[in-house]
Amino acid sequence: MSDAVPTGMGSRPVRVDTVEALRATVHGAPREATWGLVPTMGALHDGHLSLVDRAVAECDHVVVSIFVNPLQFGPAEDFETYPRDLARDLELLAARGVDVCFTPAAAGFTPAGLRTTVRVAGLTEVLEGARRPGHFDGVATIVTKLLASSRPDRAYFGEKDYQQLLVVRRLVADLDLGVQIVACPLIREPDGLALSSRNVGLSEHDRRRALALSAALHAVAKAWDGDAGTARARLHGALAEAPGVDLDYAEVADPETLEPLSGTVRGPARALVAARVGGVRLIDNVALSAVGVDAGAGH
Ligand code: PAF
Repeated sequence: MSDAVPTGMGSRPVRVDTVEALRATVHGAPREATWGLVPTMGALHDGHLSLVDRAVAECDHVVVSIFVNPLQFGPAEDFETYPRDLARDLELLAARGVDVCFTPAAAGFTPAGLRTTVRVAGLTEVLEGARRPGHFDGVATIVTKLLASSRPDRAYFGEKDYQQLLVVRRLVADLDLGVQIVACPLIREPDGLALSSRNVGLSEHDRRRALALSAALHAVAKAWDGDAGTARARLHGALAEAPGVDLDYAEVADPETLEPLSGTVRGPARALVAARVGGVRLIDNVALSAVGVDAGAGH
């Protein structure tokens, strides 16, 4: 890393809201400086901040984007009510040593005239993609725009959105974008709940009910012996029975292709779930390591 600071970065983070301003800021830095990008939709929590801290530790300069991306929400989804608190987000980022906060306006970044969509075939057609048509096209398109606008050396994504991480890795490889995608572990509350911006929509009662997701994943990870069918049935059974949990899917899948696994699995696998609790859609996942329990379920 170099100690170089881009010109004009006296008070950090510098807030920019156009691609032109972002480019001018990043290109104002010495050429040898390394840049990290942390793409977010704001309403930052400790999961986001763990990505930010890692980026700050590993890169000379860090851009955090905050953009509630309308392209990745379906017409009946929660775009309007998605939590937003820009003032708080900016304070949190200032305390973390972030250099640039990119907050594009929707009208400029996703104009009505946008005619290009980035689509990653296959990976986006299962699990979240099958339930949320167009979601990953919206994610892939906006992530490509963010990468093209900031041209980072590294971009940081959380394993909480495990399928998204795979989609982004694939698009970066397919389009030769030349950015290193850094996967960061899912962060949980002490009681196991996976951190998510949407958790603020849970009542205390529903929050307790939502613990069924991480508990079921933990139980499956703990009992994992390579029998994919039994693991899936156990996960499904636990969540289908859980009070107040409206199960969407519970899957044991290949950790790279996300194809459902059956029979005896010798290599690693991933258990993934999605459910509605009190009207809030939650996702969670855990690694099933080839040797048994993975510590990632956080109990
Ligand atoms: O994970 C998110 O917050 C979003 O999907 C992302 C990557 C910022 C794209 O809008």
